[in-house]
Amino acid sequence: MRIRIDSKVSGDFDALVVGIFSDDINLPELLDDKTKELVNKFRELGSAAKPLDSDNSIYPEGGPANRLLVIGAGKKTDFKLSFARNLAGTAARQLRKKGAKKIAFALPFGELDAAAVAQVYAEGIVLSTFDPGTYRTGEGKEEKILEDVVFLSDQKVIKDALERGVVFGEAANFSRSLAHEPGNNMYPELLAEEARKMAETYGLEFDALDKKRLEEGGFKAILAVGQGSAHEPRMIVLKYKGAGENEPYFGLVGKGITFDSGGISIKPADGMGDMKMDMSGGAWVIGAMRILAQLKPKINVLGIVPAAENMPSSNAYRPGDVIGSLEGKTIEVINTDAEGRIVLADGLTYARQLGATKLVDLATLTGAMVIALGYAAPGIFGTNDEFSRKFLDTTEKAGEKAWQLPLFPEYSEQIKSSIADIMNTGGRAGGSCTAAAFLKEFTGDLPWIHIDIAGIAYTEGEKPYLAKGSSGYIIRSLVDFVLAHA
Ligand code: BES
Ligand code: MN
Ligand code: ZN
Repeated sequence: MRIRIDSKVSGDFDALVVGIFSDDINLPELLDDKTKELVNKFRELGSAAKPLDSDNSIYPEGGPANRLLVIGAGKKTDFKLSFARNLAGTAARQLRKKGAKKIAFALPFGELDAAAVAQVYAEGIVLSTFDPGTYRTGEGKEEKILEDVVFLSDQKVIKDALERGVVFGEAANFSRSLAHEPGNNMYPELLAEEARKMAETYGLEFDALDKKRLEEGGFKAILAVGQGSAHEPRMIVLKYKGAGENEPYFGLVGKGITFDSGGISIKPADGMGDMKMDMSGGAWVIGAMRILAQLKPKINVLGIVPAAENMPSSNAYRPGDVIGSLEGKTIEVINTDAEGRIVLADGLTYARQLGATKLVDLATLTGAMVIALGYAAPGIFGTNDEFSRKFLDTTEKAGEKAWQLPLFPEYSEQIKSSIADIMNTGGRAGGSCTAAAFLKEFTGDLPWIHIDIAGIAYTEGEKPYLAKGSSGYIIRSLVDFVLAHA
């Protein structure tokens, strides 16, 4: 998708969207007099006074577009990037549902940096167009793709920022589409194939270690998790080289469980199907690598996705098993449903072996994360305060949220095993923290952040700006964080 800028709406537009603050009578730039008059009429009637109020539209005769939609941008003094993203997304998504294909936007910037706002506007518009109904046939299947999107502006910085936003939005939608695929159509081999195609298109180095190479290389942890499935595991590797050959790598590692049944410690039937999205962390990493390949920063980045399917079978790993790992540490398996940390153990180790000196991992790791922070934000854990603080700063500047949780030594105590180096669970208490403490064992002493996206990878209900299902949330921050190290 492209978002053009133009100084006026010309041609046959289905809709013009105008965003207005409730506490500021100034309107977005470049509007024609007729539109201004109509928008002011809406304002006098008290319409669009509430944030995201998008119930105000008319068909003005002789107007610049067939429909004028006035949307509430809330108070100018409260205006934030996260809200701006949702504002543009809401307008685009509501209009698209009504069949609009050509939409013009005149949206305000408040007192924020105009380029930063323009970028999130573009992100919001692109994210809102994600259609999860890919498997519908016949009637439910409508072509609702936006054909032409214009932003009213005559500033080059806005144009560049919009383009950047489209890059982020489209890569996030790509990640969402991967996460959204059901387990029968997204097992490790196919995830690797999707990563390979992306790498070829955008010019990244690609590798995927199959079962034979994993065995030869001693990747005992991921092999154990994958051994119960007819679909063999893969260790997917994407490489972006923006700096010199001998420069270190920034390592991104994403959990790639293409379906998590729980294995022998099988999950209850209710909601098990949602575990098709248990490779969201991996999908986010693949999307992030795509953005980096497009933006071409001067830094080397590794994207690693340990991909496996967690299934019960007579070949499956069992509770009580003791398994090895690429790192060498031995793991006592208490619960086969705590599989994410096991595949990540080998993923993190491999990232280090390939030259990563900084690590970030993303994973739908624990149900306890959903209990702790709900659907509002991912939890982050880290061993290096400066690195963690910098990440939180980045999320704030990107208009996203994350919340730091502790890695107290008690959590490491809780997962000590009496027969091996470490247990894969420490019981229910502090479930997200003990999971993070497990991962820490495989990070060397490198600066590392673990992001538990269990609560935010997937939205149960539809939002005005986002379809139900895979969200793509935090990819923007992840990429900005890497860029901040370039
Ligand atoms: N993939 C799940 C975590 C999850 C749960 C993600 C809900 C998204 C929504 C993970 O593999 C898992 O099953 N974790 C267990 C760990 C437990 C056995 C220690 C959990 O959270 O119940
Ligand atoms: Mn599990
Ligand atoms: Zn899982």
